[in-house]
Amino acid sequence: MKRKESYFSSYCASIIRPISSRHFVLLLSFLISCGKKEENPDYGNPKPFQPQLPEYLQTYFQQPADNPTTEEGILLGKSLFFEKALSADYSTSCASCHRPEFGFGDNQVFSKGIGRQLGNRNTPSLLNAGLLKRMFWDGRDSTLETQSLHPIIDPKEMGLTLPEAVKRLQGIPRYSDMFGSAFGDKTITADRLAKAIAQFERSLISGNSKYDLFLQGKYNPNPEELLGMQLFFTHPDPFAPGGGIRGGNCGDCHLPQTLLGDLNRFDGFHNTGLLRSESQEAGLQNFTGKPSDFGRFKTPGLRNVAFTAPYMHDGRFQTLEQVLDHYNSDSLFQKPNLDVLLSKGTNEKFGTSLGLTNAEKTAIIRFLHMLTDSTAIQAP
Ligand code: HEC
Ligand code: HEC
Repeated sequence: MKRKESYFSSYCASIIRPISSRHFVLLLSFLISCGKKEENPDYGNPKPFQPQLPEYLQTYFQQPADNPTTEEGILLGKSLFFEKALSADYSTSCASCHRPEFGFGDNQVFSKGIGRQLGNRNTPSLLNAGLLKRMFWDGRDSTLETQSLHPIIDPKEMGLTLPEAVKRLQGIPRYSDMFGSAFGDKTITADRLAKAIAQFERSLISGNSKYDLFLQGKYNPNPEELLGMQLFFTHPDPFAPGGGIRGGNCGDCHLPQTLLGDLNRFDGFHNTGLLRSESQEAGLQNFTGKPSDFGRFKTPGLRNVAFTAPYMHDGRFQTLEQVLDHYNSDSLFQKPNLDVLLSKGTNEKFGTSLGLTNAEKTAIIRFLHMLTDSTAIQAP
């Protein structure tokens, strides 16, 4: 624990150090020019941020040309992410629901916004959100820049108009210098607000779990972890010669390395048989209007999944055991519009369920614990 904390604090310090030294210089020049009322200090060029991601994740990292991630931008975005003045009644910030200690998700089934209003979907983890090409459980948004203003204006989440949000930030002295450092001048706009928050979100990376260390040849899984990992990534084939191949089938959707769904278009959206009522939650169909998309939801990347309970878009499962029981349940194959990757995955000849043994379920859960990356979840 100690070692991980110090890793994290040095990671933080590496972000903060160049800024505080610059602020020190600014402070000095302010003191020297005391009384002249420096209106437009020269803010210089913000420092590009290099995410500490393994190469196999780095390739998916989304970086828009008009909003490069910089250390100054991240620092501003972090402050805005925790800023309760961005909600109508000063009660709620992004971090109220996306809590660092829960993998930037929430431990509630549904999170409360302003006036203690309940949402209707579980808050997803934001770790590695910088890899996503489609956001929200139903895929309705595609960039962190456009996404980040939605919660602010959402009447149930933060409930503020954008002009009011900008006005409030203009009234908080520290922001004028922070916007200056991040964007070259002190002007505060909604566009810059969105950009800074998106930059902070791109810094929420996780690529240091035991699974990652294994991929880099730096960790030797114990036998149970190894079995769990094998099962996770194996598609079962009961007819294979020599008594069949056993598998948990998970890696068909939670792809190796990213553990996210396929990032191409909507290929990573699947129906895992969770629907309660057609009218309530159509998932991707809400966005595309296509009946074949009924009940398809975004496949979450599972890093730090041990900390992000409750699970699924509606937070219905409290434990990983319940998630495994769902995938293994006898009635799953009868669910309407169930993804073929699930309905064709069985360990028994002509089986009607996945058919994992208890020991196999436990091994898969051991593998899910290998995805814990405590360096990524401590409060920034
Ligand atoms: C009241 C709780 C709440 C607040 C406040 C909130 N969020 Fe969220 N956030 C959610 C929920 C719930 C979802 C999932 C909604 C859905 O999919 O329909 C979500 C989804 C997201 C996603 C998409 C992640 C993914 O994997 O698809 C991002 C990014 C995000 N929020 C960022 C933010 C930012 C930035 C703020 C502050 C400006 C913020 N959120 C404020 C609850 C909240
Ligand atoms: C057909 C694709 C598919 C397969 C196969 C699959 N998953 Fe999933 N998984 C998803 C989708 C999609 C979700 C989100 C579903 C929802 O909320 O509606 C999900 C959600 C989860 C969650 C909850 C994560 C969270 O943050 O809420 C866990 C844990 C999980 N899956 C583990 C597994 C395991 C373990 C297996 C293998 C036994 C597996 N999955 C097989 C697509 C799949």
